[in-house]
Amino acid sequence: MILTRGFVVAASLGLVAAENGLDGWLRYAPLPEDVVAPHLDSLPSGIVLLDAVEGQPVFTAGIELTKGFRGIFSKDLSKEVKPDCNSSSVVIIGTADAYADACGSAPAEAQGLKADGFWLRTDSGGPVQIIGQNARGALYGTFEYLSMLAQGNFSSVSYASNPAVPVRWANHWDNMNNRGGHGSIERGYGGDSIFFANDQVLSNLTRVSQYARLLSSIRINAIVPNNVNADANLLSDKNLDGMARIADAFRPYGVQVGMSLNFASPQSVGGLSTFDPLDASVIKWWGQKTDQVYKRIPDFAGYLVKANSEGQPGPITYHRTLADGANMFAKAVKPHGGIVMFRAFVYDQLDYNDKKADRANAAVEYFRPLDGKFDDNVVVQVKYGPIDFQVREPASPLFANLLKSNAAIELQVTQEYLGQQCHLVYLAPLWKEILDFDLRVNNEQYFVRDILEGKRPEKAQPLGGFAGVVNVGQDLNWLGSHLAMSNLYAYGRLAWNPTEGSEAMLQDWTRLTFGLDPDVLDVITTMSMESWPAYENYTGNLGVQTLTDILHTHYGPNPASQDGNGWGQWTRADKNGIGMDRSVASGTGNAGQYPPAVAAVYENVEKTPDNLILWFHHLPYTHKLKSGSTVIQHFYDAHYAGAAAAQSFPTLWETLKGKLDDERYEHVLYRLRYQAGHSLVWRDAICTFYNKLSGIRDDHGRVGNHTHRIEAETMRLSGYSRSNVSPPETASGGVAVTASGGGGGSGSSVSSSLDVPSGTYDIAVNYYDVNPGKAKWEILINDEKIGAWTGDIEDRLGKEPSDALDGHSAARVTFRNVTIEKGDTVKITGKANGNEAAPLDYISVLPLGVVD
Ligand code: GCU
Repeated sequence: MILTRGFVVAASLGLVAAENGLDGWLRYAPLPEDVVAPHLDSLPSGIVLLDAVEGQPVFTAGIELTKGFRGIFSKDLSKEVKPDCNSSSVVIIGTADAYADACGSAPAEAQGLKADGFWLRTDSGGPVQIIGQNARGALYGTFEYLSMLAQGNFSSVSYASNPAVPVRWANHWDNMNNRGGHGSIERGYGGDSIFFANDQVLSNLTRVSQYARLLSSIRINAIVPNNVNADANLLSDKNLDGMARIADAFRPYGVQVGMSLNFASPQSVGGLSTFDPLDASVIKWWGQKTDQVYKRIPDFAGYLVKANSEGQPGPITYHRTLADGANMFAKAVKPHGGIVMFRAFVYDQLDYNDKKADRANAAVEYFRPLDGKFDDNVVVQVKYGPIDFQVREPASPLFANLLKSNAAIELQVTQEYLGQQCHLVYLAPLWKEILDFDLRVNNEQYFVRDILEGKRPEKAQPLGGFAGVVNVGQDLNWLGSHLAMSNLYAYGRLAWNPTEGSEAMLQDWTRLTFGLDPDVLDVITTMSMESWPAYENYTGNLGVQTLTDILHTHYGPNPASQDGNGWGQWTRADKNGIGMDRSVASGTGNAGQYPPAVAAVYENVEKTPDNLILWFHHLPYTHKLKSGSTVIQHFYDAHYAGAAAAQSFPTLWETLKGKLDDERYEHVLYRLRYQAGHSLVWRDAICTFYNKLSGIRDDHGRVGNHTHRIEAETMRLSGYSRSNVSPPETASGGVAVTASGGGGGSGSSVSSSLDVPSGTYDIAVNYYDVNPGKAKWEILINDEKIGAWTGDIEDRLGKEPSDALDGHSAARVTFRNVTIEKGDTVKITGKANGNEAAPLDYISVLPLGVVD
């Protein structure tokens, strides 16, 4: 438990020093004087470290506590060499064993802790006691104590805190290859790798140590730095030495290191003729390799394996089972105490014309027959839903089909299908829906989190837990977005205790990250808690998935890309209806992979909740939902509601000006404004697409009816010409204009007279920010410049870039409070640069408060 009660609200706080986010939620910022003053005298003045070895977690706990007191209270703690077990002026930190040695016996509650657990006591009348079951637990307890203090919480507490699960890992998808000398990250949106560059481990691992600190404070106990699409070259002597340096950087924080493996390594780098997991030479090769790893990294956590998935090699090549493959690694790490995280993300390309084909069935089809066949140090790592990190999925049925195996849930902190950190989406509520889902195993209550905790009808499974795909990068704020860090924080907290509340975690994070101002807390709470519903609303509703371009960027809208290919992320939309029929009676049978009580709900249209109805059923657009709306009208309404919510975010954020440092204020504001604009691109693209496909009009007359817009293609064009946009629904009116000359044009413009009543307006311009290139635009009213912008989003947002006019490059800029007389002329000049031909889609002349 991390405390959420007892924090103090301060009225006026002067926090203005520029901050770059490097310390995340571990800033140890000074608390306001009025908050601290009443407690100053009762604060401890010294630290007693029991059994502290430099480079180990108890020693680190001392460093953190010292730093924390200095930062929060400007107070230097003395280092007490001789433990006084009764002094009320010290903090005693150590393991339960060390405490017993030094002070007689440890408190009873500290004696029954689980691995990594801790006991924290801040009651008056004695020392602050932070006692870990192991050294790592002592460090976790220290971070807990600091988290309380940093939030102005001086309450007296005494409690034990234990992890729900032993496996609490961070996965990184960092590549060893290089992108112009930098390590790239698959689905990373916060800069280049902090681990690799130029096909090797970086020589300077300062950022890794800084990251270790953050992970440790949220009780992540192991990390895999390299991509699951693994490069076998990581196994070279030189690179294993590099991995050992990475492990050295994490060790002081109690974070162990693991590694993703390429299944074919014995052949590709080992010189063997095979990588058959039952072949003696292959087994020997992995055994020796594993010994070499442990020689360098004695506390190595284990292997992570993606096999027979998306082109990766695996045991099936040799007609061996996935369990044969997993167990081969398990046997290699077993003598060293390591584990194998074996991914269940295994599926094949499918035939779109086969109505029974379903990628959502794949994991259970592959793994159910193997349940009970995995060695006891294998953990099957299962993505939360049956497909792939979509905005809404049901819990994976595999959790209910692996009752004799260890299981971990895979969550994605990096927002691959969820706005790539350019859209604010607080993910804890999504994760909690899955964790709190009752799978009704044997018709009894089994939440997904119970399964992860090893609770099973027959025999408890000892291992299990969480793997989070994090993908932080070299950006100083780690994920590219300050606000996205709440997801990393909540991930760690949930892995420790899956019953934590989304809002409580968020609020702790907010106070730690931005200080105690109640307005800041309110705004961040409101925006964050609305953000996942908003994103779901303006991307993909009713369980149809994120309607993004699934073939490339996974970012902007492209609903047609879902269907007609072998990837199986299908919506099966046609002119009459939409959704996958996953029923047993008439569809792919996927509903039947769930235990009977759940299957009965998903099998039946009447019983399936609206938010998953298109996941399980193919329905006419005119089908009436439980809400009373039709499928198509729900689409329209949800998209308008979601985009409206996103419009409110920057406005809310602007109320915080001066209440936090300008650096983070501006950084967040830029992103929220971008998101507000891009949510309109989403809204219009999806509404237009299904409006065209279904031929059914919006009851509220909004779709396709944009009274405030002037399409660029209808304006007077000088040096500009019409350009196709693909998919066309990502342009208002289906087309855009680009400065002619393929990028060499200058002095190109579009203009129009404004037939609006005289008054004050906001002028929004929708354009495309294409890569590479930095076009420049200016906007003028009657030849007087009122604003300018540059196509530099690629430098400011870490999302996948796009080199075309599409839903990923579409963006909006708004100029506020422009005075216009009826008949004035608006003109936009565009100067192309590189591949960016200063593209324009439309102008919206908006009476104040109107969005179009
Ligand atoms: C998604 C993602 C890939 C990743 C894969 C995985 O498909 O787009 O980049 O490799 O998941 O989880 O293995």
